[in-house]
This record gives sequence, structure tokens and C-alpha cells, in this order.
Amino acid sequence: MTGGLGFIGSNFIRQLVKSRPKWAIVNLDKQTYAGNPANLDGINIKTVKKDICDAKAVDAAMKGCDYVVHFAAETHVDRSILDAGAFLKTNILGTQVLLDAALRHKVKRFLHVSTDEVYGSIPRGYSKEGDHLEPNSPYAASKAASDLLVRSYFVTHKAPVLTTRASNNYGPFQYPEKALPLMITNFMEDKPFPQYGDGKQVRDWLHVRDHARAILTVLEKGTIGEIYNIGGSYTCQNRELIQKVLGLMKKPKGLVTRVEDRKGHDRRYALDCKKLLKIGFRHEYDFERGLAQTIAWYMNHESWWRPLKVAGGYRAYVKKAYKK
Ligand code: NAD
Ligand code: DAU
Repeated sequence: MTGGLGFIGSNFIRQLVKSRPKWAIVNLDKQTYAGNPANLDGINIKTVKKDICDAKAVDAAMKGCDYVVHFAAETHVDRSILDAGAFLKTNILGTQVLLDAALRHKVKRFLHVSTDEVYGSIPRGYSKEGDHLEPNSPYAASKAASDLLVRSYFVTHKAPVLTTRASNNYGPFQYPEKALPLMITNFMEDKPFPQYGDGKQVRDWLHVRDHARAILTVLEKGTIGEIYNIGGSYTCQNRELIQKVLGLMKKPKGLVTRVEDRKGHDRRYALDCKKLLKIGFRHEYDFERGLAQTIAWYMNHESWWRPLKVAGGYRAYVKKAYKK
């Protein structure tokens, strides 16, 4: 697998070592600012610290692999607005390098992890797997490009690919530049959360462990060449989410600062997940429980997130991204 030092990849590994104890896992991860060895503390698997764009390294790591699960990506929308270069390299070219290696090594299944953002913003209804793609941020455009590349390898080379498109994940080990961990850790310090614009943007929240189980379901039971949406169990506006978290943390309602909106900010995502349900997936986490547990996790793991938030790179990014 790729990207196993990140948020979702590390949660996937933690689940896999329990549910598939006989599988041998090789994790290829460049360890960018978002890749954190502490996410795999106590887990005994092989990590190769290399770039997915490095064809030689990918070739060596993939030797003998039956399955490839591809998580590695540049993932933060706001960073892609500041500088899209790394997004295009990793998310598009990196995916191409992996696909070519998968063909050479004749892997049995190649699962490409993608996002609901490729459909773009939808004012009503639910995005289906066959809907046209209308990505609005450089991040979403790079993921849409990688989805199309994966599709082309299926049509052209009969590559054994599967693609998943998930909604907003939440849970333990999420780098604190993303909305929920930023919110929780700010509130712990009695600092406000910077709400973009009117806060009426709608997101669909998926517990990361449900996402990990859904990926395994698609890997084992999905039909080659198909795409599967993976939606969450709770949809709400950002301003409602902020108030929910403030309430659970017993903080004042006013601990919010309205800041300049994100450029090109998508107003609403929502996924139709009937296809996923048909192959047997069911959510385990309802949002109320998942959110309360997530808040408790960050409160109990200050030693995990504090070093990330005081690091020079994080502070420089925050300064640049929130200058207004
Ligand atoms: P993350 O930013 O937490 O982690 C990304 C991981 O990829 C890191 O460990 C990083 O070191 C690694 N990486 C980045 N560039 C690399 C490169 N060139 N070579 C090797 N490794 C590299 O990301 P995440 O939130 O865990 O997302 C994982 C995947 O899931 C991504 O493909 C993302 O697009 C997708 N996704 C995320 C969400 C979400 O809500 N976080 C939702 C839907 C889909
Ligand atoms: O929908 C799936 C996507 O979810 C993934 O593909 C991305 O990798 C992941 O980062 C996430 O993208 P979002 O942009 O939706 O997530 P983020 O946590 O950055 O923001 C969630 C919402 O909160 C969004 O509407 C923007 C808003 N927000 C975010 C930040 C960081 C704020 O209002 N203020 C903030 O400071």
C-alpha cells in the first residue's frame, strides 16, 4: 500500500493487522509533512520511505504483491490553492508510475482511493458513480485526473483496477490542518475556529474506521473496473458542526472567527452509496458517538498533535493560508 503514514492509510493498516493477520503489508510512503511515523506506533510492518513517483523504488516495493491499495496523495485543498505543483506530480504522475508497475507485476487488484470532490459541488441530490466530473480545486482536479488515468488503464490494458470515492473523513490521527482536528485542538486551547465565509457549506462525515472497512469490502468484493462511492452517516453545514463540537466540549458558542472564504469553495457534497451497500457494507459509526470519541481521542493525545502544531512548517503554512 501507499500513504500508510497518513491519516486514512494508518487507520487502514491498524484495522488490517487485526482483521487480516496473515497478510504481509509493505507500506510505501515518502513521509511528507502529513506522513507521521507516530501514526503507526506499536504496529510492526515494513515501511519503505520513498516517493511514488520514483519508478525504481515502486518497482522494488511492489515485487510479490497481490494487491495494491493506493492512498498516497497531497490532500489539503487549501494547500493546492497556494501551490498546485506537488498535487499534480504526486496525484497524477505518481498514480501513473504505480499503474505501470502494477501491470508489470501482474497484481491481482489495484484499488485507487479517491474522493467525492471529483464530482464538484452539487446543490441538491446525490452524486452517482457514473456522473460527470466537475472538480473545482486544483486538488480535486488532480484526483479527477488520476481517476481518469485509472479508468484508461482498465480500458486500454485490462488493468484489474477499482476506484473508491469517499466523503469527508474524521477520526484519530488526522493532521491538524483539516477542519475537525483544527477545531478540536483550537477549542482545547480556548482559541477560535476560523470559519470560512458564511459556514453554510455542507459536508458528509464518514468515520475513518468505516472508510477503512469499506475499502477492504471493495478490495475483496468489488467488481474490477468499477467505481464505488463511500459516503458517511451524517451530513451538516460547517456552522452546525462547529456548534456541535463547541457544545460537546462545553465551550462558549462564540468561539468562532469568520474569515475570508476559501477560493472556489464547494458548497455541498453528497454521495449515493447504493452500490457499496449492495456488496455488503454497513456503517458501524453513528456520527454522535464517532464525534464524541474523536474529541476524546484528541483530548487524550495532546502529545500526538502538539508537536505537529508547533512545528515551523505548520506555523509558516498557517501564516500564509490565514493571512486575512
Ligand atoms: P494524508 O494527507 O493524511 O496522508 C497522505 C500520505 O501520503 C502521507 O503519509 C504522505 O507522506 C504520503 N505521500 C504524499 N505524497 C507522497 C509521495 N509522492 N510518495 C509517497 N507518499 C506520499 O491523506 P489522507 O487524508 O489520509 O488521504 C488518503 C487518501 O484518501 C488520499 O488519496 C485522499 O485523496 C483520499 N481521501 C481523503 C479524504 C479525507 O477526508 N481525508 C476523503 C476522501 C478521499
Ligand atoms: O470530501 C473529501 C475531502 O475532504 C478529501 O478529498 C480531502 O482530502 C479532505 O481534505 C477533505 O476536504 P475538505 O476541504 O472538505 O476538508 P477540510 O477539513 O479542509 O474542510 C472541511 C470544511 O471546513 C470545508 O467546507 C472547509 C471548511 N473549513 C476548513 C478549514 C481548514 C473552514 O471553514 N475553516 C478552516 O480553517
